[in-house]
Amino acid sequence: MANLQTTYMGLSLKNPLIASSSGLTNTIANIKTLADNGIGAIVLKSMFEEQIHIETENYIKDEHGSVKTFNNAPSTILSKRVYDYEEAYSYIYDYAKNNTLSKYLSLITEAKKTVDIPIIASINCVSNYDWQSFAKKIQDSGADALELNIYILPSDFRRTDEENEKVYYEIINEVKRYVTIPIAIKIGFYFTSLAQSVQKLSESGINGLVLFNRPYNADIDIEKITLAPGNIYSSDFEYNHTLRWISILSGKTSCDLSASTGVHNFETVVKMLLAGANTVQMASVFYKHGFNVVPDILLRMNDWMKRHNFNSVDEFRGKLSKSNLENPAAIERVQFMKLYSGIE
Ligand SMILES: Cc1cc2nc3c(=O)[nH]c(=O)nc-3n(C[C@H](O)[C@H](O)[C@H](O)COP(=O)(O)O)c2cc1C
Repeated sequence: MANLQTTYMGLSLKNPLIASSSGLTNTIANIKTLADNGIGAIVLKSMFEEQIHIETENYIKDEHGSVKTFNNAPSTILSKRVYDYEEAYSYIYDYAKNNTLSKYLSLITEAKKTVDIPIIASINCVSNYDWQSFAKKIQDSGADALELNIYILPSDFRRTDEENEKVYYEIINEVKRYVTIPIAIKIGFYFTSLAQSVQKLSESGINGLVLFNRPYNADIDIEKITLAPGNIYSSDFEYNHTLRWISILSGKTSCDLSASTGVHNFETVVKMLLAGANTVQMASVFYKHGFNVVPDILLRMNDWMKRHNFNSVDEFRGKLSKSNLENPAAIERVQFMKLYSGIE
């Protein structure tokens, strides 16, 4: 076997394949099966910031009767509610939140006991509220790293791009106050100036960037004439957007890059590595074809490396990065002209 070993955010992985955060990384049985199939690392299902608030609110309602809204509520997802006096509310709120969190913390601890590959915890966050209560606990439960999924659709006409981007830094700075394990952020591609924004984010002290989160895709049902959800799972041809940006950004960032979206087969894995990714993440392919695609991809990668005389991933990683190009857009324009001008 060729040497597939890779480092990502300072963690040592036996190969660059990571199971992306999804409903499939939420049980110990699946985590074990993924590890048995040879995956390099696993990102656990995200804990949603809203989930903590909602479950906590529900718990308070169920266990302690009706609640009423507190007028001076801080601007969290849900309005803050209180009992007759705020001290009681805080106590019960904290208790309920810890209960919700404890399930997630047990998953981390149990996963670490069960498998010997890196386990990356994940939080899907929208604000910098209340991080001190759980970021450190995640670290103390044994997570090797923390991935923060920060997805801000810049659709609010009242907010400037500076205001939208500020949220990323607020979250990163807040989390970094409480944890020393490596932090990755997983982002979408809606930035006014993507190359510059990603480069700046990479310099904020994070260790990894996951490019890109696949957004919820809105669709329209033309028979019912209603809004409808688009495909939940990616297709194997959806990787080009990620490939372009990995290749433009690799070598230009101060942290590692993990390629996500549309990675379904060994060809795409190799392409992402050639473009400069440190690791690749996969979710949809597991829903569509099961976990045993992992050994198949590893085997085919090995064959490809042998055919091209590469002994290690580092020998070919970034070979086709565009990092030495001043303005990749100019090259793309020429390619576009060449390709399309001949078609009538
Ligand atoms: C059913 C499902 C659940 C997901 N849940 C999460 C999640 O909890 N947190 C997260 O960061 N990403 C989540 N994702 C997104 C994936 O991690 C991944 O970024 C996205 O699906 C693109 O990768 P893919 O093309 O390999 O599916 C989910 C994806 C799917 C299909």
